[in-house]
Amino acid sequence: MTEKNIRIDYLEFSSMEELAPEDRELALAAVQAIKGSYAPYSGFNVGAAARLSNGRIVIGANQENAAFPSGLCAERTAMFSAGASYPGEDILSIALAAGSDGSLTHDPATPCGACRQVMAQYQSKSGKPMSVIMVGSGKIWKFEKVDDILPLIFDSI
Ligand code: THU
Repeated sequence: MTEKNIRIDYLEFSSMEELAPEDRELALAAVQAIKGSYAPYSGFNVGAAARLSNGRIVIGANQENAAFPSGLCAERTAMFSAGASYPGEDILSIALAAGSDGSLTHDPATPCGACRQVMAQYQSKSGKPMSVIMVGSGKIWKFEKVDDILPLIFDSI
């Protein structure tokens, strides 16, 4: 028997100003994207912004539905929109932000498991690391690749 470890490195920033310009632009786009959230059931508003290899930013926001499973998270809304509109481009980075009643969460909101799996798929499709930026009002986290938030990724088929 051998004991093994998985190590996760990430960066924590205390404000948007600390981010590199491209990351700051994406983080701000995620915050702006919250405006498109339709969350009458949870009251939890989420915005996401994906940066593509052509430099474009594609946004998404959570969309809820009375038949609960029919809704979709902000991150997947952004990634599927990017995939549908720009099929030849890679998603190089994605940022998300969330809040309720008009204010951002202090600690960054973290993506759900299904969104992580979809990130993993687009990262695998592009063959390049996809960075993930989680924005809170008091902290911002940056993970350099999806593997860091989804260790032991399933991509075997
Ligand atoms: N939500 C997202 O948009 N992204 C996530 O990664 C987790 C959760 C949304 C789904 C639902 O509309 C609301 O947040 C509460 O779960």
